[in-house]
Amino acid sequence: MAFKKTIIMKIKNICCIGAGYVGGPTMSVIALKNPQITVTVVDINKDRIDAWNGPLESLPIFEPGLSEVVEQTRGKNLFFSTDIDSAIKKAEMIFISVNTPTKTYGEGKGFASDLTYIEQSARHIGRVANTDKIIVEKSTLPVRTAEKIKEVLDAESGDNKFEILSNPEFLAEGTAIEDLLNADRVLIGGDETDSGKKAVDALVKIYNSWLPKERILTTNVWSSELSKLAANAMLAQRISSINSLSALCEKTGANIDELSKAIGMDSRIGSKFLKASVGFGGSCFQKDILNLVYLCKYYGLEEVAEYWHQVVKINDFQKQRFAKNIIEGLNGTVNKKKITILGWAFKKDTNDSRESSSIYVTHHLLEEGGEVHIYDPMVKENQILDDLSYLWESLEISDNLKEKYFKNVHFHENHLTALNKAYAVAILTEWDEFITYDWSKINSTLMKPIRVFDGRNIINEKYVFKNIG
Ligand code: UDX
Ligand code: UDX
Repeated sequence: MAFKKTIIMKIKNICCIGAGYVGGPTMSVIALKNPQITVTVVDINKDRIDAWNGPLESLPIFEPGLSEVVEQTRGKNLFFSTDIDSAIKKAEMIFISVNTPTKTYGEGKGFASDLTYIEQSARHIGRVANTDKIIVEKSTLPVRTAEKIKEVLDAESGDNKFEILSNPEFLAEGTAIEDLLNADRVLIGGDETDSGKKAVDALVKIYNSWLPKERILTTNVWSSELSKLAANAMLAQRISSINSLSALCEKTGANIDELSKAIGMDSRIGSKFLKASVGFGGSCFQKDILNLVYLCKYYGLEEVAEYWHQVVKINDFQKQRFAKNIIEGLNGTVNKKKITILGWAFKKDTNDSRESSSIYVTHHLLEEGGEVHIYDPMVKENQILDDLSYLWESLEISDNLKEKYFKNVHFHENHLTALNKAYAVAILTEWDEFITYDWSKINSTLMKPIRVFDGRNIINEKYVFKNIG
């Protein structure tokens, strides 16, 4: 029997490849709001899938509100599985939500996105698909990736028809469920052909089950792909702008929070994303900007590339500046001194620490011989050690040195032991619990003079860079 040449528009089964920070929460909400659709999230990582199928209190991702959504949907119309082939075959619509890290090798090293997993997923779909499918790019991708996915699918699969949509995810970690339920906008890019439009409509319908039509924007594929990179670049640019001004504030005696407030009250500027910090982290900002820089260079736009690259350079400067301030604050040396890092996650309310500033600050302190003691309410010891190992691999640090550094990294299950007899405290994540600690009691356990370096400006100002206690 010949396969149909028209795309099936009635969506009864969705498959999502990649059960990560984006795939997991997004599919949970789609399942919650579309009880008539069966959603199967697949992943090559069996441990991750087991965790998604395990107790609600230990899902692989910590997100406020996520376990409640999973509780309502799992086993009804939401399933987590490692049987990728079956899920692909059954689905009319397949989301690709695998990770796209910055390339660490070859052409574009250090800038371009590594599309290995995207290509593998496309080949996998092409190989096993036995009906027409709508493929949705959820992963953040360079412009014109949809074209390449289509080429791969067409080459792998004989007679089936594929429509490729771009549907970038704008959720922020820590507020993922709220962002999904109440999205400012959903963006869907598709081909302007008849079947392209039908595929777009099918996806619009899914989001329209809980979001009004006005918030669902449809564009061409390239605009949609580029919008994601541009949105992240603009958000990160605001943080680098305010962080660059924080350096000037520290020299001049101006107060960066007062500055942020004054700037943000201009309704043309707005108050969001103007919080000075120890630098932005997370899996997206740096990767997406570097990717944008690579794209601009590829098209010969050197000035544009340099403009955006500066956002990442200021972020690196901010992280280094923070570590230097600690060293200077301790009379120029942290050698053999206990330094406490409060917070490892890249922001509060997540257990994700990808590209967290804490990794880089810790590394600088270890280079100077410091003994780093770490406490985070959500991030586990293994992850911290993996983060450091990953950085050291990329810096090609010798095994001897790695061993020496590891001996100076100490993980704590509780903030009091982490803080006891510390020469300096560095606050790197804005966890609410850090604000509510009884700092007057903690003071008596710290080495004198007390040094608290608040990388998030969350503790009362009198504690920062001043002798207290
Ligand atoms: C996502 C996007 O996909 C990325 O492009 C965007 O910029 C940030 O958000 P995220 O969900 O955060 O990535 O990544 P991660 O939590 O690492 O999840 C990806 C999952 O895909 C992993 O569980 C991994 O095991 C899985 N995977 C990867 C596959 O199932 N198959 C593969 O071939 C590769
Ligand atoms: C970001 C985008 O916000 C989201 O739309 C996109 O889908 C993925 O990338 P995420 O990285 O999860 O989301 O978190 P975000 O809240 O943007 O924070 C990123 C980093 O910037 C964090 O380290 C955060 O602490 C820092 N930040 C944020 C600041 O330093 N100051 C601010 O004012 C805001």
